Amino acid sequence: MTKVIWITGASSGFGMATALKLLRETTHEVCVSARRAELLDVLVKEGAHSYPLDITDQGQIHSIRERIESEVGNIDAVLVNAGYGVYGPIEEVPNEVMVRQFEVNVFGAVETIRSVLPTMRANSSGRIVITSSSAAHVSSAGMGYYAATKHSIKALGTALRQEVKSQGIDVVMIEPGIVKTSFGEVALEKNYINTEGGAYSPLMKELKQYMLKAFDRAPSPDRTRDIMVKGLIGEKVKPIYRTTKDSLVLSYLSKLLPAEAYDFVIREGIKRLK
Ligand SMILES: NC(=O)c1ccc[n+]([C@@H]2O[C@H](COP(=O)([O-])OP(=O)(O)OC[C@H]3O[C@@H](n4cnc5c(N)ncnc54)[C@H](OP(=O)(O)O)[C@@H]3O)[C@@H](O)[C@H]2O)c1
Repeated sequence: MTKVIWITGASSGFGMATALKLLRETTHEVCVSARRAELLDVLVKEGAHSYPLDITDQGQIHSIRERIESEVGNIDAVLVNAGYGVYGPIEEVPNEVMVRQFEVNVFGAVETIRSVLPTMRANSSGRIVITSSSAAHVSSAGMGYYAATKHSIKALGTALRQEVKSQGIDVVMIEPGIVKTSFGEVALEKNYINTEGGAYSPLMKELKQYMLKAFDRAPSPDRTRDIMVKGLIGEKVKPIYRTTKDSLVLSYLSKLLPAEAYDFVIREGIKRLK
């Protein structure tokens, strides 16, 4: 049966890779959203339906969901994926930058989910696949705000999974670690906060060196993409998928280690790679 799938954050990275795989290897209808409409055109050429969207505009989320339902059909599965990282110390990240980080990664994601739930419930079926992160378990110096958004997503996704199971709706959380997409560039250039000569400047420089190397050595998005496709259309799905080795290891360490030992492991890891 042909399904209607909606993917947010489809202009790049995981979202684009997942959309392309679905378009090339299945007959499902793929609806794609992001702010940069010109980048979605690549997907339109492959057969996608393009719905440009700024995820911070809650009214726009609902009107696009309505348009998809009237122009393409009821949404069977959604990949709630739009997001980015702010890297900066807790004290120095400006208020509006902090708020926007939550508006995109948390409130945008929640509103996308809320918009599709009534139809999924009416159909007694649906898949909500959420791009979470290893940062849903792990927080570290210079990345506190990003980690806070992904911790929030984990908490919300866990509650939602329990709330909608009996309605025939599956919630799947995908937790990649560091993966080569545009994420690194966006976090380390556009959203990197470092007050030169300030109290956190050495720490932020060290973090940047570490992250540049980590992204350079990071795996391609292929495995995460394949698991996203599985989450959207696979017969049976698990509630959580950790798609990279670092995500698996870090999530276990964060549960096993006492706080001081956890801090030591993160600090040593950064020293070794920088
Ligand atoms: N790559 C990693 O290492 C990694 C690891 C764990 C989790 N993640 C998560 O994976 C998801 C996708 O990131 P990615 O790695 O694929 O990075 P990416 O290549 O930078 O893609 C991010 C996507 O989010 C969209 N987006 C950002 N702000 C938006 C807004 N205000 N409104 C609508 N769309 C917006 C971007 O589109 P426009 O700019 O065109 O709007 C883009 O399509 C994010 O939730 C991220 O937190 C990434």
